[in-house]
Amino acid sequence: MSDGNAVDRVIQDLRERAGAAPSGSRLPSVRELTARHHASPVTVAAAIRALVREGLVEARPGQGTFVAQREPRGRNRQSARPDLSWQTVALGARRGGEEELQALLATPPDGTIALSGGYLDPELQPTAALGAALARAARQPAAWQRGPAEGRADLRAWFARDPGLRADDMVISPGGQAAITSTLRALTNPGDTLLVESPTYLGALAAARAAGLTVIPVPADANGVLPDQLRAAFTRTGARVFYSQPLYANPTGATLAPHRRIEVLDAVRETGSFLIEDDYARDLAIDGTPPPPLAADDPDGHVVHLRSLTKSAAPGLRIAAIGARGQAGARLRAARLLDDLFVAGPLQQAALELVTSPAWDRHRRALRKELRARRDALLTALRRHLPLDAGQAPTGGLHLWVRSGHDIDDVALASAAAAEGVIVFPGRPWFAAEPPAAYLRLTYAAAPPALMDEAVVRLKRAFDKVNA
Ligand SMILES: Cc1ncc(COP(=O)(O)O)c(C=O)c1O
Repeated sequence: MSDGNAVDRVIQDLRERAGAAPSGSRLPSVRELTARHHASPVTVAAAIRALVREGLVEARPGQGTFVAQREPRGRNRQSARPDLSWQTVALGARRGGEEELQALLATPPDGTIALSGGYLDPELQPTAALGAALARAARQPAAWQRGPAEGRADLRAWFARDPGLRADDMVISPGGQAAITSTLRALTNPGDTLLVESPTYLGALAAARAAGLTVIPVPADANGVLPDQLRAAFTRTGARVFYSQPLYANPTGATLAPHRRIEVLDAVRETGSFLIEDDYARDLAIDGTPPPPLAADDPDGHVVHLRSLTKSAAPGLRIAAIGARGQAGARLRAARLLDDLFVAGPLQQAALELVTSPAWDRHRRALRKELRARRDALLTALRRHLPLDAGQAPTGGLHLWVRSGHDIDDVALASAAAAEGVIVFPGRPWFAAEPPAAYLRLTYAAAPPALMDEAVVRLKRAFDKVNA
């Protein structure tokens, strides 16, 4: 995570060095700067980006950061540095949440082990099958035409199958994040209250804040949200929408237990509310068979079902679907039209080619084995080296959610870990309110089993430094 003061410190250091050195000189590497300033690589990268924007330094990918060529004297007005200070007043205060999302998507510096990112390591992606699917789509010129705004009927029918919905209830969207944003806009108005599990996906928290919603966290444990607390929260706040991840939740890995499914659906039904089911991890099972989507047990249109292919295939396959019945479905189709009109036809076609090919089932079987090996290697390394509590091992998904037994600052620990060469994500941004303890999110899907021991040895060094 980038922290404003640390970014300023690194900027000032680099500014002084760049001012004193001739054009083209090499500046310290990201690694040196993280160590010198006890800052995370994300912070250092933010400082470098700011100075690149100013034209003071030049970043050459793979080579490093250099002092930029200085402008000759007497340059004309057009090439003078623009005065953008007026934007401070015009834009006003910033909304919260986007920075955490940027940090989540930041590219890890070379030489580090990334236990972060939130997508499959490229080695685990079905690259050949994706290429073949895209090539088949490219041979179909009709894919470039407009098609139905809500998406191809055959792709909608595929997404409708698991939640037991009709193709007509589905609308295609460009990824899960867009699906969350459109759904919140369709179901709520600014000023409304949104209930969320605590902790929950920080991209959903950011989208809710950007939509002007008040977010109220509801406690959850290893078996998912606590139904009594959910019912009480609906009653107390008057909220009519609950965002939930019932399967392998990000970040905790929790799956809603069978007995709680009924109670949660009852609470939603009795209060006349919607439950947004973010089923982002349906294809990421490791142990056993995942329970069916909640939407499959909801005849009356309370559950709005979201499913994305980005997590199980590749981040660039930006195809997801939203399933909603009745007026909610009509509002969603209208919201999606406002957002993008419709999703690129060739990408929809490629997604359909992929998920209906025999290669898809082969990929899912291989993925299950690989994820299990990575999860278990990380758990073994944690047990060997660190007093962190990983709780119950998740039965699917991409992440471990570990609690520090000590009174430790999770953001400082993540920064120290980055300086030691392992990228992890602090727990704090996943909570809508104060975190009850310090946590880290470790993405086992992002690194091969052989690197897990070294990753945890580096994390342990960071832990010892922060704890000293
Ligand atoms: C729970 C959850 N939902 C949705 C998303 C959005 O993913 P995408 O837009 O790549 O489909 C993410 C990404 O991290 C996620 O973790």
